[in-house]
Amino acid sequence: MSENVRIAIIGGSGLYHLDNLTFVKHVNPETPWGFPSSPIAICALPSGTQVAFLARHGSGHTIHPSAVPARANIAALKSLGVRAIVAFSAVGSLREEIAPGHFALPSQIIDRTKGVRPASFFEGTSIVAHASFGDPFSNKLVSWLEERVTKALEQEGRGVQLHTNKCIVCMEGPQFSTRAESIMYRQWGGDLINMSVLPEAKLAREAELSYALIATATDYDAWRPHEGAVTAAEVFKTLKANADTSRHVAATVIDELHAEITKDGESLLLEQVGSMAFSIMP
Ligand code: ADE
Repeated sequence: MSENVRIAIIGGSGLYHLDNLTFVKHVNPETPWGFPSSPIAICALPSGTQVAFLARHGSGHTIHPSAVPARANIAALKSLGVRAIVAFSAVGSLREEIAPGHFALPSQIIDRTKGVRPASFFEGTSIVAHASFGDPFSNKLVSWLEERVTKALEQEGRGVQLHTNKCIVCMEGPQFSTRAESIMYRQWGGDLINMSVLPEAKLAREAELSYALIATATDYDAWRPHEGAVTAAEVFKTLKANADTSRHVAATVIDELHAEITKDGESLLLEQVGSMAFSIMP
């Protein structure tokens, strides 16, 4: 079911719709891995460019991070014709300079999920495939976004800062980290922490889709000695402002990204196409 949409936005906690765009319709493709987290909203910009929006935790936030049907999500987006995904996620900060309300574009991931999430399309099959994942995000898409997101944040005028080249730890949850874990993650080089970038990024790679994450900081994680440990209430406080800014950023970059992806020949942004060609054991 190709919908002629080339870009998808995945919304995390707090970002359940792109109501600054024109809603066109819902689609709900069934995949071999079941249905996506929520029906996918096809939305249009004033230019006519269409984008697919998927709420990772369901439109009423009913799916906890360990239960997100990530394979169905990525497969459903791919079935619509999507080539590039810009995902948003609420994150905790492991660094003083990344304050709640700031945004970041990570370039690396440390996997602290506990093996309970199906993380490969090849799981349960007799195909042995090893995707390259040294650079877990699409470097070209990330660096392309850097300049555009910076501009969008300046244009919005709320003083939201963008941090780049950061390392995100993906933990299992649903409980937040202990202080000892949070301090350890800092020592490992972690800058941000969430519960959702994996296996999403791995599956996007296996599906040969360009994938970048815009991390939106909601809290300082538990490492700060003189502060209370992170609570859900603290996270909720910044979610709304972060979601408003995320919608603005998405609306600002989609047109140009769509033009970049659909221009003649292989777009610079589509570095993942063909990346799985030699990943299957002969
Ligand atoms: N998502 C938002 N804040 C978080 C934190 N401190 N730890 C893990 N995931 C988060």
